[in-house]
Amino acid sequence: MFKVETKATVIAHRGASAYAPENTFAAYDLALAMGADKIELDLRMTADGELVTAHDPTLWRTAGDSRLVSQLRRGDLVELAPELRPLTLDAVLGRYGQRTRYCVDLKPSQSQAERRLVRAIRRHRLRSNVVVQSFCEQSLRRVNELDRTLPLVQLLTDELSYEESARRLHRVADFASGIGPAAATVDTRLIGLAHSLSLTVQPYTVNEEAEMLHLLELGVDGIFTDAPDRLRRIVTAANPATSTRTPKSCQHRRRHFRRQADVVLAHVEMSYRPHAVRSERIHHHSVLGQRLTKAERVRN
Ligand code: G3P
Repeated sequence: MFKVETKATVIAHRGASAYAPENTFAAYDLALAMGADKIELDLRMTADGELVTAHDPTLWRTAGDSRLVSQLRRGDLVELAPELRPLTLDAVLGRYGQRTRYCVDLKPSQSQAERRLVRAIRRHRLRSNVVVQSFCEQSLRRVNELDRTLPLVQLLTDELSYEESARRLHRVADFASGIGPAAATVDTRLIGLAHSLSLTVQPYTVNEEAEMLHLLELGVDGIFTDAPDRLRRIVTAANPATSTRTPKSCQHRRRHFRRQADVVLAHVEMSYRPHAVRSERIHHHSVLGQRLTKAERVRN
């Protein structure tokens, strides 16, 4: 069925965000139940210096609240409904610990965000489990100055031409271990150059099976997806070493997270339940169930 063998990493983008509200325990639990190798989470810093999970600058899309995350304080967060409240990084790292690996996407934040991030990773003794990624090169360089051992991934937008990407790659190879390009910009030339510079290539965000297969055949090292169950199936089937059976410890871990996810999902909107997700196309939704246009999905 598959033309290639691959051990590509399954990265659950904002958790299993096709099926549960993004960047929540439900989404992360479900991702681990579905066999994701890593969970990706977006971080922003509040006015009083707490790192919390939030992709957009405001809470509008996820909680119907137009306030900026950067202007909130602990007291404001506590007042939000628990299922809509951004999680603290400490809570996420505390809950999953060594049981998974993390791609922490640091969104533009006030100064000190990098320092607080590095401190939290050290406090939880998770330096071997965390990759820090960002679109912002400066931010990654600051993390690198604070801790040379943390692996870093430079995210690249889809607006870059191959030549621009190539220039960036030569520069980021000084401090990063990988790149996260937009899937549409990935081809054998980009992968070849990245690998020649010892950079891994993990494109975002891919939900269609055909596109997953295409990228795996090109030789990517991992893929960000909202639907980790789909990618897990493909990667497992394409890897003869794992295609025959899932180890018992793995099955146990997945059952544990499935139970946890079910408990949380029981409290969220039905529109997020797996059976409600159309298989051919996945969109990011607001908590209120609205479908969002690409322009509304704020990148930074
Ligand atoms: O983590 C890669 C991917 O998350 C970057 O895109 O839109 O989620 O910030 P975005």
